[in-house]
Amino acid sequence: MENSGDERKIEIKCENVSKVYKLGNSIVKALDNVNLTIMSGDYISIMGPSGSGKTTLLNIIGALDHPTSGRVYLDGYDITNLPERKLTFFRRNKIGFVFQAFYLIPTLTALDNVLTPIMPRGVKPADKERALMLLEMLGLKNRVHHKPGELSGGERQRVAIARALISDPPIILGDELTGELDSKTGQEIMDIIDRLNSELGKTIVIVTHDIKVAERAKIKLRMRDGRIIEDTGF
Ligand SMILES: Nc1ncnc2c1ncn2[C@@H]1O[C@H](COP(=O)(O)OP(=O)(O)O)[C@@H](O)[C@H]1O
Ligand SMILES: [Mg+2]
Repeated sequence: MENSGDERKIEIKCENVSKVYKLGNSIVKALDNVNLTIMSGDYISIMGPSGSGKTTLLNIIGALDHPTSGRVYLDGYDITNLPERKLTFFRRNKIGFVFQAFYLIPTLTALDNVLTPIMPRGVKPADKERALMLLEMLGLKNRVHHKPGELSGGERQRVAIARALISDPPIILGDELTGELDSKTGQEIMDIIDRLNSELGKTIVIVTHDIKVAERAKIKLRMRDGRIIEDTGF
């Protein structure tokens, strides 16, 4: 029998991805020839010091930014040079992003914040039900009508996670998602991320400089100077 066992598909692939920033006369190589293959259901952490290229890589994987050279594939599609209009489709349907700073809209309730990604196409009653279900799943049943300013940091990040899940994307990307939280709250948020992988089968990629966060993942990578250094078994 050929190829027995792993029938998972390739979710994300970076081939020789580099990103160069030019500032005046100086050149910053934020990513230096990165190769990375992520299978569906993977749970990956990428650790590295500040400035090592973690955010740049995550933004390119998440269709928020283009590489200077190399190719990026998402769900088998080459997204390297797609125009903004088409990248939006991938962002809406394939990717849920969770950021350090939450990026919630302060004037909207938790419920409406969760619904913001689908507002452009119009919110249907079923969407609202799904948003309520997600908020309940994340322990926020009694915070649905609260605004971000009336929520704790951990609660805000849980709203942001519900927002990332509203379109039921297969991939969740987290950029320093516990960076604004105390360590206990950060661990609670990571318990949720663990469950998104183990129970919902989401493909997870988190970047962090916190070893306790990185240790949660099944595949642990490190970055330095824009390069991925393979699993060093930390
Ligand atoms: N928009 C930008 N313009 C110029 N340089 C940038 C820009 N974004 C990031 N960089 C530089 O690229 C490198 C990698 O940055 P980043 O991906 O944010 O690292 P990390 O997330 O690991 O801290 C850094 O040297 C940073 O200063
Ligand atoms: Mg960063």
